[in-house]
Amino acid sequence: MTSGQYSDKDIRHEASRRRTFAVISHPDAGKSTTTEALALHARAIGQAGATHGKAGRRATVSDWMQMEQDRGISISSAALQFEYRDAVFNLVDTPGHADFSEDTYRVLSAVDCAVMLIDAAKGLEAQTMKLFEVCAHRNIPIITVINKWDRPGLDALELMDEVQQRTGLLPTPITWPVGQSGDFRGVLDRTSGEYTKYTRTDGGATIAGEDTYTAEAAADLEGDAWTTAVDESDLLEMEDQNHDQETFLAGKSTPVMFASAVLNFGIHKLLDLLVDLAPPAEARLDKDDEPRPVDDPFSGFVFKVQAGMDSNHRDRLAYIRVCSGVFERGTVLTHASTGKPFATKYAQQVFGRDRDVVDEAFPGDVVGLVNASALRVGDSLYLDKKVEFPGIPTFSPEHFMVIRAKDSSKYKQFRRGIEQLDHEGVIQVLRSDLRGDQAPVLGAVGPMQFEVAEDRMTNEFNAPCTLERLNFSLARRTTPECVPTLARERSVEVLHRSDGELLALFSDRWRLQGVQKNHPDLVLEPLVVS
Ligand code: G4P
Repeated sequence: MTSGQYSDKDIRHEASRRRTFAVISHPDAGKSTTTEALALHARAIGQAGATHGKAGRRATVSDWMQMEQDRGISISSAALQFEYRDAVFNLVDTPGHADFSEDTYRVLSAVDCAVMLIDAAKGLEAQTMKLFEVCAHRNIPIITVINKWDRPGLDALELMDEVQQRTGLLPTPITWPVGQSGDFRGVLDRTSGEYTKYTRTDGGATIAGEDTYTAEAAADLEGDAWTTAVDESDLLEMEDQNHDQETFLAGKSTPVMFASAVLNFGIHKLLDLLVDLAPPAEARLDKDDEPRPVDDPFSGFVFKVQAGMDSNHRDRLAYIRVCSGVFERGTVLTHASTGKPFATKYAQQVFGRDRDVVDEAFPGDVVGLVNASALRVGDSLYLDKKVEFPGIPTFSPEHFMVIRAKDSSKYKQFRRGIEQLDHEGVIQVLRSDLRGDQAPVLGAVGPMQFEVAEDRMTNEFNAPCTLERLNFSLARRTTPECVPTLARERSVEVLHRSDGELLALFSDRWRLQGVQKNHPDLVLEPLVVS
């Protein structure tokens, strides 16, 4: 069977070239710098800095709200596509701010691999661990990059121990640093035994110098630093810390490399590693765990919905990850949850402010559909052969606020706004008969989601609102039978979430433990990632 001008074989070939991945890290570990460096090496852009949103540089990372610009952080996310060797990379951008993480979690449903970026001086930080857990839960293979090796930091072997102890993954370094942190001379390639020496270039804005030497030449050149690297690599060898593709893909081991993104050291090797080891776009499991082969007719799912990106384009974008077939602009697809047709006249590839019209896309690619008001996060779209992919999980909210319209004459706008933010997954909306429809509770993973909600309610939906913090920090799934018992407990409240889940809110862990102790039969399940 063919799809337009492409045969099944063509589609399988295109899918096999795709590497769809995200960089997960704690803020400041160097995600933006690494993104720039990767794109620079792959020659998608001319000079480092083009995708970075910081002062003095051309801002393209979708800093679509004034608030975001003021803070200099990226709230929205999109995908950057570039080619390297014979591969096509889709780097799905993740918002980096610690407070704004639900979005980041969702983005991970669209990727086949993650690059875990660790600051050499700080080791595994909180946000990295949270994101790692989501990847681990979804069995996403992880490549670890120890960044900022040009700055004094922890010992390389110590870092390996930390990775192993905290993530449970066996670190299997592909490269090993020559020179301790702060004295980054180059890397020992543990597969070939050769030495890659790095040379700084001005400001790191162009590709760093890389020269390869044999072990003998490296020993002459670097002396003790080389000997130490070889000894440490031998130690790893004795512990069987060598790359193994099977355990990597199974999420049990993690290849490790050392880099300095700001100096462009190690970036080339990271790209090679992604081409050689990261999984391509492959058959994706549907709701019933049936694989959808990549050469089946088109299918994809929405992993992110975004509105108000740009005041010049007051539209709504739904980002879809292509799972099978070819996406061809202009095709009428079917929206799996409603069975209704969905016209794809407006499709764009978006990275920051630059929008390119997309005419076709292959498995692994990300496409932004414009004016997609009917689409929600988790929805599937297909052509000809029906398929529905599993919904995207929501996460356990940790912050709660009551929202009310400031102006009661704007109640219609208020309702419409709340509904929209709920659909987009900006916040979770919780209701109860007791609180009524005029004062729903908003739940969020990070407090900044409330600021986004408030800003959009005021400016986009013309419904100024007030928010009042509630003293809860923990939600558990419960059942209707448990409600009477929970209702008698102090500082516990039960609310309905819009997806039908019944959530019991607690002020803290101790309160939850107290209730569980008094009523061991109560259903109080953690809202884990599904
Ligand atoms: P993020 O997106 O993960 O938040 O991090 P980002 O790339 O913005 O990097 C955070 C800071 O760390 C930046 O410095 C950046 O230049 C620096 N950095 C990134 N990678 C490396 C590296 O390999 N070595 C060293 N020494 N520094 C690195 P900044 O001063 O906050 O910003 P800027 O003025 O350089 O833009």
